Amino acid sequence: MTNDNPGQGWPSILSGSSPGSAHKTQPQILIPSERITARILELGAEISRDYHGRPLRLIGVLKGAWIFLADLIRAIDLEEVTVDFLGVATYGEAKQTSGEVRLTKDLDHSIEGVEVLLVEDILDTGLTFDFLLNVLRNRKPKSLRAVTLLDKASRRIRPVHADYVGFTIPDEFVVGFGLDFAQNFRQLPYIAVLR
Ligand code: PRP
Repeated sequence: MTNDNPGQGWPSILSGSSPGSAHKTQPQILIPSERITARILELGAEISRDYHGRPLRLIGVLKGAWIFLADLIRAIDLEEVTVDFLGVATYGEAKQTSGEVRLTKDLDHSIEGVEVLLVEDILDTGLTFDFLLNVLRNRKPKSLRAVTLLDKASRRIRPVHADYVGFTIPDEFVVGFGLDFAQNFRQLPYIAVLR
């Protein structure tokens, strides 16, 4: 889908910490949906090759990763792929991370002895990722890898990396394809920048 005027038809929102500093902001396309689709197909093919003949459990991190996961699982060509979800909260209703990570939903199934691929929408400071990798490692999976649609590598606080990366992006606040600002914009079919 191509949209030369991405803001049109989508909600404007207010940003700024006080009424005096508030200004209207609208999403500007950073990665169009066609590029996302093509990259997810590539990631799916790579994951299918790497896990050929082995059962795989995808663990999506709610809420941001569910749209990416929905497309990724359909791009994976393996006989046995199962899904589970973790809920995590890091950001509040603002553009800054609070630095606090907490589980809002645990897995439904044990991962002991299971080949696990953690599915994230974005790897930013790495605080969430670091927290989740520790939580999951303690549950003794057979293997543990991670895929992220977006990697904001320049913002890393913790020395973590994903085994599969869709796109490395600059230090911009991005929304769309599952990513939100104050719970809005997750529905955008592209990745957009909010300034
Ligand atoms: C986002 C994203 C990652 C995390 C990455 O989640 O989904 O889980 O932030 O940031 P970090 O690398 O700086 O820890 P968010 O807390 O916005 O919640 P959401 O997935 O419900 O939108």
